[in-house]
Amino acid sequence: MIFHLISGLALAAFCIGYALRRRRRIHIPLMLAAGLTDLAVVIILTIQRDPFGTLARSSPGILWVHVSLALLSLVLLGRQAWTGRRLVGDPAARASHGRLAVTFLACRTLTFITALMVTPA
Ligand code: HEM
Repeated sequence: MIFHLISGLALAAFCIGYALRRRRRIHIPLMLAAGLTDLAVVIILTIQRDPFGTLARSSPGILWVHVSLALLSLVLLGRQAWTGRRLVGDPAARASHGRLAVTFLACRTLTFITALMVTPA
């Protein structure tokens, strides 16, 4: 399914952006592009598939896990964007930006895996 492909590419971009975290001129645009892609996919799927309505009606366990991970990923992504923006002008923000980076990547990877379980490609 096309959304799995787009989401997988965004995840790959996050991992490459993490590996290139010292190279600002690559790290920042790559993370912003991957983040905006993620946001667009979540908005489109929420409109098209109504995941919250499905949860309210039938609440399959794996969908709960997936939606929870997806929301947590978005929150962590928002935090990374916020602390990353601060880091541009304030080196003291480095610690808070670096601290949750791996947590975000783990959460985002699990979101991708559970998406494949909810709707196999
Ligand atoms: C979305 C917008 C983002 C912006 C504007 C941003 C900005 C930055 C900046 C300016 C740096 C410092 C680069 C340097 O060493 O000169 C940095 C480092 C870093 N970024 Fe981001 N970033 C963003 C997203 C992310 C995301 C999503 C992750 C999660 C994987 C991440 C993980 C890291 C890590 C681990 C470092 C190294 C921190 C350290 O040195 O301890 N960033 N980022």
